[in-house]
Amino acid sequence: MKGTAIRTIGIIGAGRIGSQIARLAVANGYDVVISNSREPETLSALVAELGARACAAPAVDAAKAGEIVVVTIPLKNYRAVPVEPLAGKIVIDTNNYYPERDGHISELDNESTTTSELLQAHLPTSKVVKAFNHIYAAALTTDGLPPGTKNRRALAIAGDDPEAKATVSGLIDQFGFDTVDAGRLQEGWRIQRDTPGYGPRRTAAELRRDLAAAKRYRDR
Ligand SMILES: NC(=O)c1ccc[n+]([C@@H]2O[C@H](COP(=O)([O-])OP(=O)(O)OC[C@H]3O[C@@H](n4cnc5c(N)ncnc54)[C@H](OP(=O)(O)O)[C@@H]3O)[C@@H](O)[C@H]2O)c1
Repeated sequence: MKGTAIRTIGIIGAGRIGSQIARLAVANGYDVVISNSREPETLSALVAELGARACAAPAVDAAKAGEIVVVTIPLKNYRAVPVEPLAGKIVIDTNNYYPERDGHISELDNESTTTSELLQAHLPTSKVVKAFNHIYAAALTTDGLPPGTKNRRALAIAGDDPEAKATVSGLIDQFGFDTVDAGRLQEGWRIQRDTPGYGPRRTAAELRRDLAAAKRYRDR
């Protein structure tokens, strides 16, 4: 893998996406420390399924343990993500904004920022990379294919740190998907809900087309 060498992936959020990323991580030889908002014991069934490479811990310990940490929680809770243990680390942000679930966030409603920029502002010295936000959780373990497969599914990333993006691209490749770079974090809206690339299976060429065709709500 290009970029930083990773052994342990911390996961904050153990729901549909967090558990699937944990399965992919373990299957690819990574150690996993996974957390939810409750006692680690509440994750005993998932940890038993994941096997010896996985353990559950409070979110702060998952943040400390991971050389790379995935934040995959309802967006409304992003301010609860621990800041100090994530300093300087790559943080993968899978989160999306659904006002009916998250409540209204004025900077997102007026499109003056984007979801991943909010997390980046909360984690000022972390290297936030937006990824895994536009694929249904179930498809993470069914749509992956080996590198070089024709018409392989592609996933978009966005971020401000090129080395962090290279590392996350390498991880996504191991997990079975091509990567399309949507650009800086502020371009992440191109793959938010209600854009053409959000949800369906797309090859890299198709996803590039969809990212280019995306429109902000104010321009529709
Ligand atoms: N579902 C999908 O197909 C999908 C696809 C792409 C992206 N996403 C996005 O990814 C994020 C996660 O989605 P999901 O469907 O996996 O959600 P989910 O199934 O509702 O799971 C959310 C997880 O986050 C945990 N959590 C909540 N607050 C937390 C906190 N402060 N600290 C630690 N853990 C916390 C919850 O723990 P408790 O159980 O203890 O509350 C739960 O394990 C969302 O922003 C979503 O929009 C979802």
